[in-house]
Amino acid sequence: MSSQDIPEENLPAAQEHAHGAVSVADEVNPFADPGLPPHEHRIQDIDERAAKRSERAVALLFTVSMLATIGFIVSYVTVPHDKSIFVFPIGHISALNFALGMTLGTALFCIGAGAVHWARTLMSDVEVADERHAIAAPEDVRAKVHADFRQGAKESAIGRRKLIRNTMLGALTLVPLSGVMLLRDLGPLPGTSLRHTLWAKGKRLVNMNTNQPLRPEDVAVGSLTFAKPDGLEEAQEDFQNEIAKAALMIVRLQPGNIKDKRELDWSHEGIVAFSKICTHVGCPISLYEQQTHHVLCPCHQSTFDLSDGARVIFGPAGHALPQLRIGVDSEGYLQALGDFEEPVGPAFWERG
Ligand code: FES
Repeated sequence: MSSQDIPEENLPAAQEHAHGAVSVADEVNPFADPGLPPHEHRIQDIDERAAKRSERAVALLFTVSMLATIGFIVSYVTVPHDKSIFVFPIGHISALNFALGMTLGTALFCIGAGAVHWARTLMSDVEVADERHAIAAPEDVRAKVHADFRQGAKESAIGRRKLIRNTMLGALTLVPLSGVMLLRDLGPLPGTSLRHTLWAKGKRLVNMNTNQPLRPEDVAVGSLTFAKPDGLEEAQEDFQNEIAKAALMIVRLQPGNIKDKRELDWSHEGIVAFSKICTHVGCPISLYEQQTHHVLCPCHQSTFDLSDGARVIFGPAGHALPQLRIGVDSEGYLQALGDFEEPVGPAFWERG
């Protein structure tokens, strides 16, 4: 039953005036205030028996809470602390802990549920509009601020002493430049350094674990080898900057399993070299699934298919891993045949 179904004379008297003031649009307030929607009476507002039922329900919840609290005290005193019981699906647990948890939980829950039921069914739910106060300061306060300002300007003689005024304006204008100059300390501009790596024609591939140049026979089918350019040593000051661009993943595939023609052309006897830097946000890729030839970036699970040009088959990475063209030199060591031909890593390159 809603309040619409109740005869007017049976409705509580307070509701007719319960709504916020309604205003119409005019030049000062161009948006009309629609006021609050009509107040809906609850069944408890118009039916005393329903109100009594709610009252009893609230009292019952509070009574159960009292009993649970008494149960908590009794449990604490009577249940042995070394007794255990089986509770499905938890298993064997301390009987004392179980009893204390259940009784205290019930006591607190019933207090909360009783309070909520009381508020929702029996307490007044008449909507009340509270008008916002004006943001502007009162007229007399504003007049005083203006007067104080004019008085201060007059006493400082800033209008009369133009030399002081102009030099002060100059000083205030220039002082922020100090902060701008400090921005130079952020370091030299990168120039084109982010567009190139240390890889170049003839640069040998060096195993990052053993620090030895790699031969084709060092790369077994199914293994994942990490490589760096020959000459790049950890002791170097710019090692981290350079390895962040030049780190390589090397795997050996059966040439017949390589689906991408360019990948096959850039490989050596099935050995392919791809950038280890994920094209999403630049995490180092390190997980290789040899059956599927997939590599997985641990950061956000981008997955690349190394048998198909390292294209993205899952995850947020935007493009395939760049491949490095490789061959062997006259001494039989793996070498690069040039730099990467596409940018390594994430989005700088798309904006750069
Ligand atoms: S950095 Fe590799 S998936 Fe995000």
